[in-house]
This record gives sequence, C-alpha cells and structure tokens, in this order.
Amino acid sequence: MRSDANIAGPMTDPVPGPRTESMGDDVSRETPPPMDDTPIGRAAQLAVEALGRAGEGLPRPEQTRVIVVANQKGGVGKTTTTVNLAASLALHGGRVLVIDLDPQGNASTALGIDHHAEVPSIYDVLVESKPLAEVVQPVPDVEGLFCAPATIDLAGAEIELVSLVARESRLERAIQSYEQPLDYVLIDCPPSLGLLTVNALVAGQEVLIPIQCEYYALEGLGQLLRNVDLVRGHLNPALHVSTILLTMYDGRTRLASQVAEEVRTHFGDEVLRTSIPRSVRISEAPSYGQTVLTYDPGSSGALSYLEAAREIALKGVGVHYDEQQAHLGAQTEQSMVEGIQ
Ligand SMILES: Nc1ncnc2c1ncn2[C@@H]1O[C@H](COP(=O)(O)OP(=O)(O)O)[C@@H](O)[C@H]1O
Ligand SMILES: [Mg+2]
Repeated sequence: MRSDANIAGPMTDPVPGPRTESMGDDVSRETPPPMDDTPIGRAAQLAVEALGRAGEGLPRPEQTRVIVVANQKGGVGKTTTTVNLAASLALHGGRVLVIDLDPQGNASTALGIDHHAEVPSIYDVLVESKPLAEVVQPVPDVEGLFCAPATIDLAGAEIELVSLVARESRLERAIQSYEQPLDYVLIDCPPSLGLLTVNALVAGQEVLIPIQCEYYALEGLGQLLRNVDLVRGHLNPALHVSTILLTMYDGRTRLASQVAEEVRTHFGDEVLRTSIPRSVRISEAPSYGQTVLTYDPGSSGALSYLEAAREIALKGVGVHYDEQQAHLGAQTEQSMVEGIQ
C-alpha cells in the first residue's frame, strides 16, 4: 500500500444511490445548480471551490496516513467525525478509505453503503482473512472516497478473534496488503477498548480523539491514553495521539468554552483550532445515507469539517495552520464566541 499522486483519479465513477435524486431539493439554496450527473457530489465540490482554495489544493501525504478515530465513550461524535472528515479529505482531492469497525455499522449507513448481513464486510477480513480489496466499496457521490462496511457479524468478532493467530494485528496486515493507492485511511472504532479497537490501534500511526464539549468530557480518557501507551510500547512504536477534535460545540454556553479551555490546557497543540458546532444538518445527514458535505454543502457543519480536514492535512506535512485564513463559515471557537457577543 502506498500513496501515489500520479494515480490520483477516481477509481470508479460514483454510482448514485437510490436516495440521491430526491436529495437535490435539500442541497443548500446558495449552492449553484448541479453541473453533471452526480449533482450532490458536484454541489459539494462547488462548496469546496467556494472556500477559494480550489487552485491551491491540499498537500497530500507522502505515505498513507492511517488515522484511528477512538474514544470509548459512545455518542461523542466518532462516527460523525470519521465520515465527514473522510468526505472532506476526498473533496479536497485525496483518496480516502473509511474502515467501519463498529458492529452498529453507523459509518457504513452514513456513507450510503449497503451493510446487510450478506454483504462482504470487515468481519470477513478480520476473522476469515478475506483480502480488504474484496470488501471495499466506492461511496456514492464522493469521488475518491471508499468504505469497508461493518455488518452485525462484527459483534461476534471480539470473541472470535481471541483464539486466532496474530489476533491484534489482523487489521494491520489487511491494510498493508491493500494495493490501491490511498492518502488516508480513517478507522471508526466501537465505543469500547476491546480487540477491535486494539486492532485499529495496531494498524494506525495516529489517533484522533473526538471530544464532546460537555461536563464529563475528559473522564475516562485516561484509560484510552493508557491503552495507546501500551500498544505503542508493545506492538506499534509509531502510534501517537495526533489530533483532538472538539465536537458539538455550542458557543452560547459557558460550559462549552470552559471544556474547550480545559482540553486545550491538557492536550495543547494536538487540539485542532477548528471545532465542530452542534448542527441539526450534521445530525440529519446520516438518515439520508449522506455526509453533511453532500447533504448541505454550504452549512456551517460542512464548512467546519472541511476546515478541520484542511488543518489535519496541513499538520501532516508540517505546515503551520493559519487561523486568520480560516473560511468565515468555518467556526473556530473564537469566531463562535464573537458571533454571540
Ligand atoms: N456536530 C454535531 N451536531 C449535532 N449532532 C451531532 C454532531 N455530531 C454528532 N451528532 C449526533 O450525535 C449522535 C452521536 O454521534 P456519533 O458520531 O454517532 O457518536 P459515536 O460514534 O461516538 O457514538 C448522533 O446522533 C449524531 O448525529
Ligand atoms: Mg459510532
């Protein structure tokens, strides 16, 4: 597996999913009319161009970056962050694979990928040693975005893996043998620290922790950080927490800014300047099998994820992120606070 800028084109023409035609009406009215036969993807592309950086593009990593999205708490925005960041990175021109490692299959649903019990899935890869390429599907409407879906079978994998050879490194081996060029692999973890999450931590170099801006935000993180240290010490020396993303940020509450401050004090530079606002559009998108990037490309949620993706891409090549150049629609905490003053 490698990253190769010369093979940057889409592998497959996106196949519009059954829900896509009806979705045209939901695309923001500020978005210009569709210009090709994948109207949603095109609208999202136009939103990226509207950020004024189409020509500039984003630097692509020299090596594939495997990013593990983890937090053992449920409901903090792991899946939402995985799918929307992945779509953003793809719209910025990258080739991106989402690996759904949660038996709930929420990431697969949000990407419009069929994941009923008979679909070849990440379970087959982990437990039956099926090549990853045989389960990966292109995501409708977003060029360069792919998904390895999870089916309900995966619920049994925590136990089935226990007796298998190299039980902690099966996902890593599968990714290493995947021959298509990729810029990013994003792994959506279940809300636990079992063998599925350990497989993700062994497979990745980076951990991205979404933190919901609420009272108990930091509670329980110690256990995740200790697991990261253990995996780094024994199985994967390259592993590190590279990114913290504040999610569901509500600038109107003092609690949110206090939590954000506490997280910044604790984690420093790992915390992205861009936070993700609480947004109805973000929470509506999955029920249409869409990311917010295609569901409402002009919304604050979409722009925030695009900006967060930009920050991640720039950090990856050591370029300093200039907050002053953040798109006005993307919300840094400061702009959100200023907005309500
Ligand atoms: N920024 C946001 N604004 C509003 N709702 C959000 C936001 N991020 C996530 N949600 C909603 O919160 C719930 C939990 O998010 P999810 O990504 O599924 O968390 P996790 O994967 O950590 O369990 C979902 O219903 C999702 O739609
Ligand atoms: Mg989830």
